[in-house]
Amino acid sequence: MDKKFKGKHFLTCEDWTKKELDQVFDKSFELKDQFLKEEAHLDLLHKTLFMIFFEQSTRTRNSMEAGMTQLGGHAHDLTADKMQLSHGESAKDTAIILSRMGHGIASRNCFYGIGKDYLAEMAKYSRRPVMSLQDDVYHPFQGLADLMTVFEHFGKNTKGLKVTISWAYADTHSKPLSVPQTQILLFPRYGIDVTVANPKEFPLSADIIEKAKKNAAVGGGSIKFTNDMDEAFEGAHIVIPKNWGGFGAYSVPDYLANENECKKEMKSNLEKYHSWICDERRIKLADKNVKLMHALPADRGHEVTDEILDNENISIVFDEAENRLHTAKAIMSMTM
Ligand code: CP
Repeated sequence: MDKKFKGKHFLTCEDWTKKELDQVFDKSFELKDQFLKEEAHLDLLHKTLFMIFFEQSTRTRNSMEAGMTQLGGHAHDLTADKMQLSHGESAKDTAIILSRMGHGIASRNCFYGIGKDYLAEMAKYSRRPVMSLQDDVYHPFQGLADLMTVFEHFGKNTKGLKVTISWAYADTHSKPLSVPQTQILLFPRYGIDVTVANPKEFPLSADIIEKAKKNAAVGGGSIKFTNDMDEAFEGAHIVIPKNWGGFGAYSVPDYLANENECKKEMKSNLEKYHSWICDERRIKLADKNVKLMHALPADRGHEVTDEILDNENISIVFDEAENRLHTAKAIMSMTM
């Protein structure tokens, strides 16, 4: 593998050219093939990754940790409460120290108005690559796995593919904006026509929408918006029904200054939209060969019915989850 990626941070796909991302996908497919054939691929023998999670995770944590083991290295699974971060040690000092002891740092910090900047601070001071495991704005590893899954099911020429990213009801927690935002930035770079549907109180961030429009103009895809979930499903080749919090309705300073009121308002707005679910009726509006994608965890019975999620002719969510492993390994083996 080309050594030119060694030390390159992976905080957002926006920092990687399409040509560079294409090399990541090539490596991901190669690693998937080696994994399935049970061939050794010890690209990171004896290397160490430090992972710091400020929030829960199933796919991200395990794709990174299993990935490091399979590449011949080891991942430390850290949470803030196990570290002096809980006593206020800075991102800067933590990054300097960990990057002197190992070969990479990865962190998930989704606090709105904080996460992305926290990771950028670590990247500024780390001698080694810093990887985002999701923040308040981006979830780059999810974007890679999503696109790899699209390639597997639709081929690599994705020009003209219609992908609908729709807000959906969920009551578990206020999910970050990072998954749909990463998708709207990335998919149009590959010629994909994206439709975003959301209730008016649940917009994505205005600056990300502007960037996504620019990416579409360069990449040959398109992006459009609607407040009607049915309209968004019509003719779609892929549907991605997923909840996100109402963070995009507030500027970061306003949100941070009035966090409790904003959370109360988001909760009350949420209750108006129980009907935003991906079910059999809506699936029938889409293309006859439509596929369901979802980053998971899914709120079954809220975001999407069991009937659709468990339908093997429609749902490719478990391929998508598995591809988190292969894409994570590609980035780690190229940058560490
Ligand atoms: N999709 C995703 O990031 O899953 P986890 O939160 O379980 O890591």
